[in-house]
Amino acid sequence: MPDKLKIVGGHPLSGQIPISGAKNAALPALAASLLTDETIQLSNLPDVWDTGTMRRLLEGLGVRVTRDSTTSWRLSIDSDEAFEAPYRWVKTMRASILTLGPLLAKRRRARVSLPGGCAIGSRPIDLHLAGLSALGARIDLAHGFVEAAVDGRLRGAPYHFERITVTGTENLMLAACLADGYTRLTGCAREPEIQDLADLLNAMGADIEGAGTECIEIRGVTSLGSATHRVIPDRIEAGTFAIAAALIADDAGLELTGCKGVRLEALREVLSPSDVAWDDSGDNLRVGRAETHRPLSVKTAPFPGFATDLQAQLMVLASQGRGVSHIEETIFENRFMHVAELVRMGAHIDLTGGMARVHGPTPLSGAATMATDLRASACLVLAGLIAEGETSVDRIYHLDRGYQRIEQKLRSVGARIERIEA
Ligand code: EPU
Repeated sequence: MPDKLKIVGGHPLSGQIPISGAKNAALPALAASLLTDETIQLSNLPDVWDTGTMRRLLEGLGVRVTRDSTTSWRLSIDSDEAFEAPYRWVKTMRASILTLGPLLAKRRRARVSLPGGCAIGSRPIDLHLAGLSALGARIDLAHGFVEAAVDGRLRGAPYHFERITVTGTENLMLAACLADGYTRLTGCAREPEIQDLADLLNAMGADIEGAGTECIEIRGVTSLGSATHRVIPDRIEAGTFAIAAALIADDAGLELTGCKGVRLEALREVLSPSDVAWDDSGDNLRVGRAETHRPLSVKTAPFPGFATDLQAQLMVLASQGRGVSHIEETIFENRFMHVAELVRMGAHIDLTGGMARVHGPTPLSGAATMATDLRASACLVLAGLIAEGETSVDRIYHLDRGYQRIEQKLRSVGARIERIEA
């Protein structure tokens, strides 16, 4: 039996929550260790399951990982013989695909299990493969694996992403920085995590310009060296707690520490009609409770649009809005698994295709619920914080993939929440 969370709702939150490093910046940064024979030192890594999965995957690929603390690791290559990312890791974490670009670029050969579908949608990797082919890789799909190889070095080339993809952009950046010649990527994702990866690679000696814009230019180099890098704070974790504050902070609001400069403009804009105090002028981000719960109108989009990774959590706030909120999911076709659970807790939500209409306000009542994916789990935790009575959230291994001890962080600001260990 997996661990569960038990939450007793209705207890206002106040105080400080430290924000961890960004999972989605840490994973490509860890994969970058495959590109160099020297040591890279990463700090502010989140202590979550996904970074643990990436560590085990990299160890299988000959990377020695020395953990100076849970959040500060040194990575260096012991052996460069292996080139396979096995199904056992890829099936638990799709971001394992981020080893494909570096393995091809450095070891000239890669065999990475195909990820297959997942709870939030089909999530193909065709654009990763098309981009790597444009750089000269030969790619075959056989026995559930991507088998890729190149004679000599990858070759710099132009490539346009027909659809914006975050890890696709990262995989191509990782590969192209060791390619022979100039690569111009257009249609790139602009997420802050991409900029963070470029900062690390440039510190290792790569020549990447334009990360954070739609066009990234990479001049290939023959080798990369060592670097020390601090991973950026997790904007999705910060956004999740900001929504918790809007729902149930006390008069002083919640203060999120260690996340100066975190890019949450789209969330701030969505919250502003509900008069949510938002102060990021100091070192910390302070967020207050919504003074008026207005209905919300949100469409998820690639950065700088509203993040799909905050859609589920926002739906809890929408359930408290006076009127009909519209939440449209445009990135993943099946990212509404939380809706049925929220409805069981008393929310009134109609779902048609990619659009959820949330009729509020509805009081929520505590219930036994089941997590289906990472962000859906966070949504159920937020719902439990405002629900009357007790909520349990089962299968929280989903939550542990991306949130560092969420129950401890919430308990420290006054929530009644505990983990029931299996
Ligand atoms: N897509 C394709 N072909 C591809 C790649 C993507 O059609 O080759 C489609 C996807 O199916 C999806 C859209 O493009 O409809 C965008 O997917 P993207 O590739 O950007 O997603 P990802 O890189 O697999 C990352 C994050 C996700 C986050 C999305 C969107 C990491 C490790 N994961 O996934 O994070 O939801 O970008 O912002 O960076 C999470 O943290 O909970 C999470 C799921």
